[in-house]
Amino acid sequence: MAVRTAVIPAAGMGTRFLPATRATPKELLPIYDTPALQFVIDEAAQAGCTRVVIVTSRAKPSIENYAAVASTDKVAVSVAYQDSPLGLGHAVSCARQAVGDEPFVVMLPDEIMGDASLTKQLIELFEKSGKSSIGLKRVAPAEVSSYGNVKVAGGAGVAGDANSSVEILQVVEKPKPADAVSDIVIIGRYVLSPKVFEKLELIKPSNNGELQLTDALAMLANEQALLGVVSEITRYDTGTPMGLLRAVIEIALDRKDIGPQLNAWLREKFNK
Ligand code: UTP
Repeated sequence: MAVRTAVIPAAGMGTRFLPATRATPKELLPIYDTPALQFVIDEAAQAGCTRVVIVTSRAKPSIENYAAVASTDKVAVSVAYQDSPLGLGHAVSCARQAVGDEPFVVMLPDEIMGDASLTKQLIELFEKSGKSSIGLKRVAPAEVSSYGNVKVAGGAGVAGDANSSVEILQVVEKPKPADAVSDIVIIGRYVLSPKVFEKLELIKPSNNGELQLTDALAMLANEQALLGVVSEITRYDTGTPMGLLRAVIEIALDRKDIGPQLNAWLREKFNK
């Protein structure tokens, strides 16, 4: 079945960006002049999605206001609500009615990708295999405990090729270094079968009280129903203020309209 819907969870508290997020949701903080949310809506459209469902909270009316003017001739943008921030897994389940009984992409708006290639690849893999397919990357061992960590079939060597698809055998959320199952972690793009909604009904809150999407993914992996793509895509983690600042600088430097001016100013500043 074709994948035409993207779900963008945007109902979180954004506590790492306080005090900015008292006034502006994290997802609308600008990368130079464009909200992070817009980058993800554009990526969904470039990957061939025709519907975007933003999961938001009634406490963040500016997201609704943005969504109201974000539809284009390529993509229809709507909202679904998560009444309280009970975790990413819960946010995804709040989109169930809007998505319906069809596969969909989940795109985290605090990870900005250099282009839509990974999302396209995951959609192709899903359409070929019928299995949920998620974005993966290799990280340094010290970083593994910040992410969902996966064990893949055939051992680490098999996943050595960039952009290769792999079968996921096990998923562990933010493991202690000693409990890491590999150096491969989950990044914020997921193409999911609607079966994930049934799994999301079964999961229990984790230690921090949140319903984790990774717990539902672990159930799919136990049923041999989860694939991944180990990607080397350019990726900006804009979930922290320093990550956002880096993304603003790098993305602005790459832009034809402002890049040369920013580059000249930085050179002047550092040559003093
Ligand atoms: P994060 O955990 O990075 O966002 O979730 P957060 O909770 O807003 O951030 P901090 O830790 O307080 O700074 C990743 C994405 O999932 C959404 C967030 O809005 C963000 O886009 N999310 C998270 C939800 O929609 N609902 C939730 O309950 C949790």
